[in-house]
Amino acid sequence: MKALITAGGHGTRLRPITHTQNKHLIPIANKLMLAYALDYAKEAGIDEAGIIINGGDTSIEKAFGAGEDFGLKITYIEQSAPLGLAHVVKTAETFIGSDPFVFYLGDNILVGGIKKFIDDFNSHGSNCHLVLSEVPDPNRFGVADVKDGKIIGIEEKPKNPKSDLAVTGIYVYDSHIFEAVNNIKPSARGELEISDAHQYLLEKGYSVSYSEITGWWKDTGKPSDLLEANRLVLDNIKDERKGKIDSASTVSGRVVLGEGTKVTNSNIRGPVIIGNNVGIEGAYVGPYSAIGDGCEIINSEIEYSILMNDCRISNISRRIEASLLGSDVELLRSKSKPVTHRFILGDQSRVEID
Ligand code: DAU
Repeated sequence: MKALITAGGHGTRLRPITHTQNKHLIPIANKLMLAYALDYAKEAGIDEAGIIINGGDTSIEKAFGAGEDFGLKITYIEQSAPLGLAHVVKTAETFIGSDPFVFYLGDNILVGGIKKFIDDFNSHGSNCHLVLSEVPDPNRFGVADVKDGKIIGIEEKPKNPKSDLAVTGIYVYDSHIFEAVNNIKPSARGELEISDAHQYLLEKGYSVSYSEITGWWKDTGKPSDLLEANRLVLDNIKDERKGKIDSASTVSGRVVLGEGTKVTNSNIRGPVIIGNNVGIEGAYVGPYSAIGDGCEIINSEIEYSILMNDCRISNISRRIEASLLGSDVELLRSKSKPVTHRFILGDQSRVEID
């Protein structure tokens, strides 16, 4: 079995971060988002993965290479334009061939991996196996109409959902999915929808089975989803402290401290992950924070936030919370008079101050 993993699309809801980087390379608990999908594929016994990328995007290949670090053979497949998830499947037809495969949306994060769902597909002997999850806001997703334990219909982002069961971004298919993606028409928003391909399979009488996710699952479309995914992953980390903590500091709870990291006169309250070569001085780092390599946090407080590599936060008087900082961002207290707010912000940045 092969895996087909998405890393294309626009990532519009995560701007400005996605102006300069592919959203699948945003770190969740200091691990690149797409690395979760690759690890899960390997754990499920898969050796070969195709990653769908936007035309001309070399960043994913730079990050994952030929896949040796994951024990996978990775093939990069360019999609002509983000024309929908069924278009992704169509684009990968030659790569997949005639074997069954797992289709995994690279922006989905879940606990417990995907092996169980592949096993369920095999034991049902179905043509398509979907993974469902109960959600409070089904109109953001593909939604399954389930009756007497059987899926009877699938709709993409319906205004009036027939259930609260979202179709998550993990699908297992046999080769009949290619018949479906080659026969459906673009939706009103101009995309070849994967939900329409599933509906096609149902209408043609192919068997569509399902499992329900019992643990947590997150589709990381918006900044608040990234912070939640980060929280959920950090909830399961193990304590591992390689850096140096001086005697004036307090470090409690589960905390990962990278190599070369120094904590001086500070308070760190886990679960927290702090990368390599980070300097923390006179600071508070609170629960559910992920601090990337090379960051500096001086005389400031931060909690429930993601800092990518090489950020500098210094002498900020209010606690920073629920924030997402791209690489090499600086937040500093102004030294000269008059004391003013000075901003150098990229397009679609968001700042909240009192
Ligand atoms: O996360 C689950 C949901 O994913 C499902 O419930 C929906 O039925 C399904 O359509 C999809 O909805 P989204 O609106 O969340 O899809 P999104 O456009 O965010 O794309 C999902 C992933 O696929 C993401 O990794 C980007 C990538 N992508 C997307 C499109 C449309 C591509 O690589 N190429 C594309 O053409």
